Amino acid sequence: MNYLIAPQYKLPAEAYFEESWLIQEKRKIFGASWLYAGQTSEFHEHGSYKTIKAGLDELVVVRDKHDQLNAFHNVCRHRGAQLVQGTGQCGTLVCPYHKWTYGLDGHLRGVAKHDQFTDIDNMSLGLHPASVETWMGLVFINANEHPTESLTEWLGDIGKELAPFGADKLELLKSDTISFEANWKFYIENHIDWLHLWFVHPETLAALDHDKGQFEQLGRHWVSYEPAKREHAQAYKTSSPLPDIPHVKDAIGRYSENGAHFIFPNLPIFTGTSFFAIAELIPLTAEKTQMKVNLLGVPGGDEDAFFELFNEITKGEDARIIENIQRNVRSKHFAVGPLAHSYEKAISDFHDHYLKLMDL
Ligand code: FES
Ligand SMILES: [Fe+2]
Repeated sequence: MNYLIAPQYKLPAEAYFEESWLIQEKRKIFGASWLYAGQTSEFHEHGSYKTIKAGLDELVVVRDKHDQLNAFHNVCRHRGAQLVQGTGQCGTLVCPYHKWTYGLDGHLRGVAKHDQFTDIDNMSLGLHPASVETWMGLVFINANEHPTESLTEWLGDIGKELAPFGADKLELLKSDTISFEANWKFYIENHIDWLHLWFVHPETLAALDHDKGQFEQLGRHWVSYEPAKREHAQAYKTSSPLPDIPHVKDAIGRYSENGAHFIFPNLPIFTGTSFFAIAELIPLTAEKTQMKVNLLGVPGGDEDAFFELFNEITKGEDARIIENIQRNVRSKHFAVGPLAHSYEKAISDFHDHYLKLMDL
């Protein structure tokens, strides 16, 4: 491998603690990307809806009477109130403020106290459309009505790479949320950092052979796999508290190894023979982040035991170490030195894709 060009850390310290920076990220990164919004199974009937943030924008995804998923800005065309909150089921979207009513296709259907409004043109007062598409049973939204790339284009090679996991054939077993006191990008950078595996997870990942792992940048996204060490291989195979997923266990190649992947901008994914765990990172402030994990797999195992180990790694080890950096980020001596040639290259690539959207 040619190491003539060393990977570079390209963001200043302010990017990790200034709220004004986060607002720009919400506008330019989260507002312009395809973002995970849950599972198609969460929209099981006509009228099932879920609200979700896309950067500064507030969206609602709803299944209409023709079984189609629609996404709209959750902003009433009268005076801007939010129509719905959280998740639920409805026949129409009714604004709680003055009862304007919208169909599940977004059209304005009715205006209360109609005689108070002259010349209302229902057709021009529908909800502002956003975009929604699905991939392998995963729902993604985009705040733009006409995104520059379709979801398939946005995913590129990672869409095909992760297809053998057949997530649309799995069940949503359990969800869990953790939060930590660090900027969301520190979590991503740690997730795609191969160098820390030996040192931050000396026991929890002891059975894995980091030296034999493979990692690969796929456009803006990233995938990685690592086998169990030979002496642990048998024990590792039988140690999961969840049942094996037959089509993953039998898949050819590296799919049965321990996988950690990343869909830009905010979606780590963890895979193995018995699980497909989707971890959505939601910045709460510049220095506080929430991670919502949807565990997919085959029912019949002990999901709590899975999360006990998973949280020990992600919250107990990864989040702790990035909270440690966060406490230093305002120091006048905080600076990032040289990066490891291949083990930390993905961080440099993440910054490139990030900076392209931030347009700094
Ligand atoms: S703000 Fe929605 S009806 Fe008035
Ligand atoms: Fe880690």
